[in-house]
Amino acid sequence: MTTEIESILVENRVFPPPADLVAQANVSGMEGYQALCDEAKRDPDAFWARLANENLVWSKPFTQVIDESDKPFYKFYADGQMNVSANCLDKHLGTPAENRTAIIFEADDGKVTKVTYKELHARVAQFANALKSLGYQAGERAIIYLPMSIEAVVAMQACARLGIIHSVVFGGFSSKSIHERTVDVGASLVITADAQFRGGKAIALKDAVDEAIAMGGCEAVRKVITYKRAGTEVQWNDGRDLWWHDVVQGQSADCPPVAVDADHPLFILYTSGSTGKPKGVQHSSAGFLLWSLMTMKWTFDAKPTDVFWCTADVGWVTGHSYVTYGPLAAGVTQVVFEGVPTYPDAGRFWKMIQEHKVTIFYTAPTAIRSLTKLSEADPKVHPKSFDLSTLRIIGSVGEPINPEAWVWYYNNVGGQRCPVIDTWWQTETGAHMITPLPGVTPLKPGSCTLPLPGIDAAIVDETGEEVERGKGGFLVIRRPWPSMIRTIWGDPERFKKTYFPDELKGYYLAGDGAQRDKDGYFWIMGRIDDVLNVSGHRLGTMEVESALVAHEMVAEAAVVGRPDDTTGEAVVAFVVLNGPLPQGDQAAVVAKQLRDWVAKEIGPIAKPREIRFGENLPKTRSGKIMRRLLRVVAKGEPITQDVSTLENPGILDQLAQVR
Ligand code: WTA
Repeated sequence: MTTEIESILVENRVFPPPADLVAQANVSGMEGYQALCDEAKRDPDAFWARLANENLVWSKPFTQVIDESDKPFYKFYADGQMNVSANCLDKHLGTPAENRTAIIFEADDGKVTKVTYKELHARVAQFANALKSLGYQAGERAIIYLPMSIEAVVAMQACARLGIIHSVVFGGFSSKSIHERTVDVGASLVITADAQFRGGKAIALKDAVDEAIAMGGCEAVRKVITYKRAGTEVQWNDGRDLWWHDVVQGQSADCPPVAVDADHPLFILYTSGSTGKPKGVQHSSAGFLLWSLMTMKWTFDAKPTDVFWCTADVGWVTGHSYVTYGPLAAGVTQVVFEGVPTYPDAGRFWKMIQEHKVTIFYTAPTAIRSLTKLSEADPKVHPKSFDLSTLRIIGSVGEPINPEAWVWYYNNVGGQRCPVIDTWWQTETGAHMITPLPGVTPLKPGSCTLPLPGIDAAIVDETGEEVERGKGGFLVIRRPWPSMIRTIWGDPERFKKTYFPDELKGYYLAGDGAQRDKDGYFWIMGRIDDVLNVSGHRLGTMEVESALVAHEMVAEAAVVGRPDDTTGEAVVAFVVLNGPLPQGDQAAVVAKQLRDWVAKEIGPIAKPREIRFGENLPKTRSGKIMRRLLRVVAKGEPITQDVSTLENPGILDQLAQVR
């Protein structure tokens, strides 16, 4: 961490925005940006009202803008009504967009399927009619466990069309995770597929749903709808299970969208925190969609002629805002990809950009770092071996992008022509918050630069006072914004405590440490809580610890992150077994068993990279585990800190050895 910050802080190159973008971008030049910021500052209500009126189609116009009567449970446009799906699809009908390709879907095996906006609208309406005929109504909750596919977008949009609240579970999560979420949201519907293809292999999905439901407590689930993707064998539960192709059979392509209140929950998405189980982040309809759309226009400078490709899975927030909702509301053509970046080889992304003439590309630093290594080792898969000249903007999301990766991305993918748009945001913020704008912001590699107009970001100390430039502190947002988290599903107290702690003057606490340089640029320094960022995925150390101690062999476990060149952070677990300390080969065998166990409990992304065994963990006399020391051991560095407060200092040597 320290070395990372140092490398970031010595970075002082500045890349001005390209002249052609300054000339014709949706927000053009620093004056254009400043004018929007001033407008928002002068009269936030008027600013947010103007954007919502100009960019969304309302079934019933709103008269209120921000409702602050029950802080921090803010509402936006509370008395207005609209429908998200109508704002993504119906609004394009009868316009030149209707025959435009909405989705270019490329399957794992390379097969390409395209749908126009008109066709997508019809498919969403048919699937929504199917749900309606099964008796589903606004306010019910649906779990979606689908691979990247046109069907995943259709399922989410169909829910939105009827006001059904969806909760997408990433296809890499285990049956246990599906179970937890199904119970927590009280889902009455599950939408899944028989299997998904990744890297040439079929991976079962419906089996995991069956297992999850069999764990009990999911009695509210009336139907499980399965999309036949792979043709693999599945168990069938008559009366509960239905095939996607059967339920849409004969359904009309006319399904009037259900107008819902602006703050009606659009979706619940689970994300990790520092304590307890993953929390269900609840998002609104109008505010969420507005900011997803505005950021498409501002951050990505989206125009109808663009071919946009966000590589995120719909199981993450990035896939909600920048696959299912934002791009469709913006009317662009987008690429949806089922597979993985390294199959059939590490040139897959570049080949797809070339073939589909992608103009805006949005991916994660982890992908860039791993592809850098593979590309530099094999010219055949190097971006320079492909024609990437259609690209005009390249984006990054999910974790800090180190200057080396930034510069490689800029030179080799962006051809030193495309700005690297490093977007800082979170599941809770709904859409981008701090980011460069392509026709505005001079770029500094490693900095997410400046807040968007209307976003009042600041770095404060523990009393909420702004710190001096150059000093580190907590990243907060001082004013509400439309796409902010509305609550944690079923746990409003936890929502208040986590995000609006009393000491911080009612500001939204992001959970990241950051600092601003002399130009006011923001530099994110990573989480201030026990949350790890592995390959851009958030993971609570507590979650992995609970999974480990749930195994009969494990007495105690502590999990920390270790900096990693490719994945950003890697999970390292320190484990005390219920028996004797394992030695040599035996330690390796037990470690493998525990890693597989964690994969089964949470999902493969949570698998510890390394497990170390000890007879105990380093603890203070009051019994608190000293994670700070474990982080040093995990890095393989010698302990130079004072360990005199430790109950059992000798344990550090043991933990450094047994793995
Ligand atoms: C981190 C993903 C630095 C940060 C959209 C945040 C970043 C967490 C960036 C949210 C960035 C995301 N630079 N750090 N550009 N983007 N992060 O909820 O720690 O999966 O709090 O949302 O990722 O992760 P989440």
